[in-house]
Formats: sequence, structure tokens, C-alpha cells
Amino acid sequence: MKLWGGRFSKSTASIVDEFNASIEFDQKLYKQDIIGSIAHGKMLCKCGILTNEEGKKIIDGLEEILKEIEAGKIEFKLEYEDIHMNIEKILTDKVGEVGKKLHTARSRNDQVAVDIRLYLKEEINNILILLKNLLASLIDMSKENVDTIMPGYTHLQRAQPITAAYHIMAYFNMFKRDYTRLEDCLDRTDYLPLGAGALAGTTYNTDRDFLAEQLKFSHICENSLDAVSDRDFVIEFISAASIISMHLSRFCEEIIIWNSAEFDFVEMDDSYSTGSSIMPQKKNPDIAELIRGKTGRIYGNLMNILTIMKSLPLAYNKDMQEDKIPLFDTVDNIKISLEIFKQMLVTMKFKKDNMKKATKNGFMNATDVADYLAKKGMPFRTSHAVVGKMVLYCIENNKNIDDLSIEEFLSFSDCFLEDILEKIKIENCIESKVSVGSTSKSNVLQMIKKGEEFLG
Ligand code: ARG
Repeated sequence: MKLWGGRFSKSTASIVDEFNASIEFDQKLYKQDIIGSIAHGKMLCKCGILTNEEGKKIIDGLEEILKEIEAGKIEFKLEYEDIHMNIEKILTDKVGEVGKKLHTARSRNDQVAVDIRLYLKEEINNILILLKNLLASLIDMSKENVDTIMPGYTHLQRAQPITAAYHIMAYFNMFKRDYTRLEDCLDRTDYLPLGAGALAGTTYNTDRDFLAEQLKFSHICENSLDAVSDRDFVIEFISAASIISMHLSRFCEEIIIWNSAEFDFVEMDDSYSTGSSIMPQKKNPDIAELIRGKTGRIYGNLMNILTIMKSLPLAYNKDMQEDKIPLFDTVDNIKISLEIFKQMLVTMKFKKDNMKKATKNGFMNATDVADYLAKKGMPFRTSHAVVGKMVLYCIENNKNIDDLSIEEFLSFSDCFLEDILEKIKIENCIESKVSVGSTSKSNVLQMIKKGEEFLG
């Protein structure tokens, strides 16, 4: 008979058992389920709802079950539907009738909610560590590349010269926001739903503060109907993971481009590259591509959970059992992506000469020439047009701005002085960016210092 079978006169069809069950995937929550049940059992004793003797049998039984699961001695059964009822059944088989008292003042609705929150809190903390490791690697890379000159792009067209450290520190700031976004999400996940019962609370005089203390929750869900109904913390987490993925995918895309023969800015380490089964010469950036691909999968998970939760009436609905699939998949994939991305990055080498060479063409100092004229009093719009003419002249004569003689400069404007030839050197174009947050070395060093302070 099912644990809930009292009011049924017929057993469920076997196809229903199979369809209804979640044990195949929610067994991942066995530890959280047992820890939650132990806290619940202790609370029932503390409140005089169970005798100490009853409580001890239950708690000892649960602790034994935890060990047995970890030793691989337990086989979960589809007929007991989910992890919660499997463990309750195993407990009752082990400790006898008293095991049936564990579910007093509790529902699977608050039970599953607390399990998921316990799981997610732990995993967010794991992901925060991975993000911090990545941030630390970005700082190291930046420090090694404060003088590495490369083109900055807009529209993937050479725009203005920057340093690789500046480029990397842009990602540092993105991942730093991801970090704080996850911390915020952690705070909203850190609410205890246990004690909510099915939806309305319970007739027992329970102690939810004690439960929160036992299970290390900072807050208690204030409204029991809300406690069992919402999965917004799951949605928020997958949103934050989607944004992390989006950032990873942009960096991966750049690495893939930099790794092409056309760019040739980086050398990926052999240990983080793969070959082709037909073309012997190939060395492919599969790892970067796969992380980029995982982004689509994680976005799919976000759409999955958003759509599951859309329009569900309060409180619990069985639809919500499906929440674990996108959640677990997101946790697993964001973790491996962050880990492997960091490894791929720290083993990658910049081809500094090629990067610098790429700043020679593409008139990357044109804006600096326009600024030069504007500083001599010419309105910026006018100087923009003058330099536009100079660029056109250069294209027609197959020259760079740096190749022009002072006579050629003067033929476009008599505001030019000899110093223009020095001012338009790529190094000087970078160093002359004096505004706060710019690519000049002192600004980038400032960013690195702030980044190190953040990491502590
Ligand atoms: N396996 C269920 C889930 O994961 C547990 C909650 C079941 N509650 C219920 N009222 N049927 O959502």
C-alpha cells in the first residue's frame, strides 16, 4: 500500500507509478532530506510532540540510513515515488511503527521546499568559490599583461588601442557583478519553509526558530502559503547562472576568434584543445565552444522553470516536481563550465607581438588625432571631419596615419605641430587616456588594486 493509500480502494496503474515518480532524479536530495528530517524530529521532541525516546529512535535510524546510502547499500524504489517517501519507508522498516510519527506536523510540500533550499544554498556557496577562483585568475592574467597592447573593437572592427589587462579587467567586473548577484540570490534562498505544513501551517505548537537554527537558515518564510508555493529562488538562481553563462560565452567567443589563424592572438594549451578525426592539422577550441553551447542549455533551463511556474494557482501543484530537472542541470553545468573555463584560460598564452602588430593597421589612432585638433580649439565635429578626410587620403595612398609626414598633416590643418608625430604612437594613444576607468596603465593598475581588495 502507498504511504497515502488510505482513501483509495484500488492501486495506481503501473504506468502512473512510473509517470508520477521523481525518485530517479530527486534522490540527489537524500542528504538534505535526512538532515531536514533529523532537525524536524529534534524539534518534535523539543516541543513535546514526540517523546525523547521516540525521537532518539527516529534520529538514530535516519543517521544510519544516511550512512547506508553513502555506502551504496540502499536501493530506492519507484513504487515509493520520491526521495521523501523512500526514506520514510526505509526508516519505518528499520525502526518500526515509531518511524510513522516523523511526518507529524509536516507535509511533503514544506519538506521538498526545504530540501531544495538546503541543496541550493550549498551549491551557490560552491559556485561562489568557483567564481572567486576565476576572478583571482583574471587578476593574475591582468598583472602579466598591463603592457600587452591589442586592438579594442566595436562591431568587431578595430577601434582604439587598449591593453590586454584592460580587456581582462572588463570581464573581471562582469564576473564580480555575477558574484554579488549570486550573493543576493543566496540571501533570498536562505529562508526556511519547513514548518509550513501543506499550506496553512499546523495545529501543533512547533518551533520554527529552532528548525532554522538547526538547519542554519538566516530567516523563516513568513507566510506558509508562500513558503510551499514559490520557486522564485530557483528562477532567480537560474537567471543569475544564465548571466554568468552569457559572460562566459562572450569570453569564449573572443577566445575562439583570437585562436583563429586570421587573428592569431592566442595559443591554446594542448591539454585544453582537441583534434579532428579527419584533418590531421587541426587543433580546435572545442572547450570554449562547448562552454558557449552550455549557455544555450542553461537559458533553456531558465525558460523551462519560468514556464512551469507560470499561472500555477497557489499552493503546491505537481507541476513543481519538474523544478529539479532544470535546477540540477544548471548547477552541474555552470560548475563544470566555470571550472574548465578557468583552467583553459590560465593555460592559454597571448601572442603579444601579433596583438600589437594588429594595432598598426585600421587607423586606431584616428580618434586621438581628432582629439588633438579639438584641443587646439577646433570643434570636435569639425576635427572628426578633417581626420575622416585624412583617413580617406591614407586609404587611397595605401598608408597609415603614422606614415604621414608633417607636411602631409599640415595640408589637412595648420593646427598640427611637430608633436603630433609623437602623440599618435599607439603606446601614447593608450597612455593619454587619462579619464577614470580608462585603458592607461595607471588606471588599469588602479582597477587591479580594487579587484585585489574585493578578493581580500
Ligand atoms: N516529489 C514531490 C516534488 O518533488 C514532493 C512533493 C509532493 N507533494 C505533493 N503534495 N504531492 O515536488
